[in-house]
Amino acid sequence: MFLENCEILENKLVAGHNYLMKVKGDKTVKTAKAGQFYMLQCKNGVYFLRRPISLHYADKENNILEFYYEIKGGGTKDLVSMKAGEIINIQGPLGTGFTTEISGKELLVVGGGMGMAPMKLLIEVLSKNNKVTFIAGGRNKEAMEIMSNFNLDGIENYITTDDGSVGIHGNVIVKMEELMKVKKYDMVFTCGPQKMMEAVAKTAKKFETKCEISLEARMACGVKACVGCSIKTKFGMKKVCHDGPVFDSETIVD
Ligand code: FES
Repeated sequence: MFLENCEILENKLVAGHNYLMKVKGDKTVKTAKAGQFYMLQCKNGVYFLRRPISLHYADKENNILEFYYEIKGGGTKDLVSMKAGEIINIQGPLGTGFTTEISGKELLVVGGGMGMAPMKLLIEVLSKNNKVTFIAGGRNKEAMEIMSNFNLDGIENYITTDDGSVGIHGNVIVKMEELMKVKKYDMVFTCGPQKMMEAVAKTAKKFETKCEISLEARMACGVKACVGCSIKTKFGMKKVCHDGPVFDSETIVD
């Protein structure tokens, strides 16, 4: 974990309230893993607490980190105001990411809404040594605009939207069930709204497939120094910022 001043290369609107920030890293990029997050300092330290933002992508050749984030309050509004050329202080990579030391397997990745954030890096890493299928879901076309930032060459992928404005009209679970009925996947990875992840975890369990979920929690310190992100699990209290955000779904969901 490092503290680093990075130059902002780009900070642009993707759609709706969702933005993509690219920064030039140095020390942190090489060790960053899919599913980890960074604590980003707001402009001039206006907001005392940093904002936890999922890592979207780490370009290890060019030392560039990408963050896909949503305006949720004053802190993230402040992040949006930062322009290319400005310097942002970042802390990370933090937390426990997805299991990626896997090879020769059939893997299913399911992302929903802002849960698409960690999937770009995850898909790239997993697809080097495995066959990856990706289901991406959202409310509407706007929510799926981030897909243009993914490289899905050679990846079997499906888009579902609640309103049918793009891709399949429906939700990710319907597509997931359909796929799992005809193919045995070795593992499922998911990130998205809580209810969606619970449904993904239950579907994976139904087909006796291990599933990892990435939880969202309010975070103050991001480095296990407070109790802000504690959650109850089947194995006692855990800290999302340290023990997660990625957990085996069996730890969390019945
Ligand atoms: Fe402080 Fe996790 S955010 S312990």
